[in-house]
Amino acid sequence: MSIERTLVLIKPDGVRRGLIGEIISRFERKGLKIKALKMLWLTRDKAEEFYSVHRGKPFFESLIEFMTSGPIIAMVLEGDMAISVVRKMIGPTDGREAPPGTIRGDYSLSKSQNVVHASDSPESAVREIGVIFKDDEIIDW
Ligand code: PPS
Repeated sequence: MSIERTLVLIKPDGVRRGLIGEIISRFERKGLKIKALKMLWLTRDKAEEFYSVHRGKPFFESLIEFMTSGPIIAMVLEGDMAISVVRKMIGPTDGREAPPGTIRGDYSLSKSQNVVHASDSPESAVREIGVIFKDDEIIDW
């Protein structure tokens, strides 16, 4: 077993479209453990920090505008190989190419408004969890 933690965001489009319950339910049914969960509205500074690896790319400004356009849901999920398991469950970035059965494949037709974000490596999981959550917001159960 390789127990990992990963960060998942339900992006503003997912919240606006009423998909919060559906998305959380998929992760729960898979067997992933919710260790932290909250709704928040990212400030521009927080969004820029969170997506700092993309600073300078052509889509950076529209990414920040989109991610600060409304509230999001953030959660820390834990489980065996959680990082790769969750990435498989959400599907590739572009919703038009994501296979049916994945979250993006079922709910998105876009590369930007693609409903969810999930950490792509152990290093980014640690960094992203630290940007969004304080230590005492993560529940040990
Ligand atoms: S890269 O350069 O290949 O690493 O970028 P990519 O993986 O395709 O996308 C990284 C994140 O940026 C989002 N994205 C966009 N947002 C807004 N507008 C545009 N045009 C756009 N293009 C890409 C994409 O949804 C990825 O978000 P996350 O949250 O990481 O999934």
